[in-house]
Amino acid sequence: MKDFKDKVMFITGAAHGFGRVIAEEGAKRGMKLALVDIDKPALNETYQIVVATGADAVMIPTDVTKEDEVNAAIDQTLQTFKQIDLLINDAGIALPGRMWELPTRDWEWIMHVNVMSQVYAMKRIIPIMMAQKTHGAILNVASIAGLVDTPGMPAYHASKFASVGMSEATAYDLQRAGADIEMHVMCPGFVQTDLYHTEEHRPKQYSDPSDPYYQSEAFLKGQQFAKYVITNGMPLDTIAATVFKALEEDQFYILTHPQFNPLILDRVNRIVKNGAPDVHVMDGIM
Ligand SMILES: NC(=O)c1ccc[n+]([C@@H]2O[C@H](COP(=O)([O-])OP(=O)(O)OC[C@H]3O[C@@H](n4cnc5c(N)ncnc54)[C@H](O)[C@@H]3O)[C@@H](O)[C@H]2O)c1
Repeated sequence: MKDFKDKVMFITGAAHGFGRVIAEEGAKRGMKLALVDIDKPALNETYQIVVATGADAVMIPTDVTKEDEVNAAIDQTLQTFKQIDLLINDAGIALPGRMWELPTRDWEWIMHVNVMSQVYAMKRIIPIMMAQKTHGAILNVASIAGLVDTPGMPAYHASKFASVGMSEATAYDLQRAGADIEMHVMCPGFVQTDLYHTEEHRPKQYSDPSDPYYQSEAFLKGQQFAKYVITNGMPLDTIAATVFKALEEDQFYILTHPQFNPLILDRVNRIVKNGAPDVHVMDGIM
């Protein structure tokens, strides 16, 4: 996608972090914006920032774990702007916790936010883009955690591997269908955002404060781990430029941390040589 002026961006996760800066950059480039997020006050802040630049925008508070709410947000976008040209599936959460400790409800929560929300939006928006007969683009925000494994967060890895896999598979299907839709998957390393505040975005349906897990040392350690890696990540300021350059150059994989490339190569080498995960690969990294 090279020409952004007057194109419509539908973006989830627009209230904080990546979503906010991508929306801001879209506004600067003359895009119309449908801003979607569960955090209404912070979403309103993003809305105020982009309309102050003169952008045409609508904010749509939405819990993306619910397909009917995602569909309603898409309907509202079409009523407002008549079309959708760029889908950014950015909403995401991070839930550390080992396989034998993380509650099942947290597995369901993370799979619904990080995977199913992307499914709901793509299922509905791809046919809309095809019917428009204009050029479209889809960008799923996954993670480097969708390309390599690390200890301590199997649910996050499972969700991000799913996002990468379905983005790759959908790219094939779009090509075979002759659709004029670009596919992208973003796989960043750690970046300083609000991602370690995931607990603040826990919807009621995934909440059970009586579960002793949420008072346990394992839970508290996981929270500290998430805060440490995110606050020590790279600054957020280059992310929007990276995204728009990748869109302009039709780059499928969008990586931000070249220092992790040896881990990707190591994983692929281990697979083809019938190797196994080796925790020492992470020595000096985490
Ligand atoms: N920050 C990093 O280090 C990093 C690295 C790799 C990938 N990512 C991915 O980038 C994406 C954006 O994360 P971020 O780092 O900007 O974090 P963030 O917490 O700043 O932003 C995530 C946004 O998703 C929203 N959200 C959460 N649950 C939601 C729900 N049920 N419905 C609607 N919106 C919901 C939050 O309100 C928030 O605005 C995520 O998919 C994340 O996994 C982040």
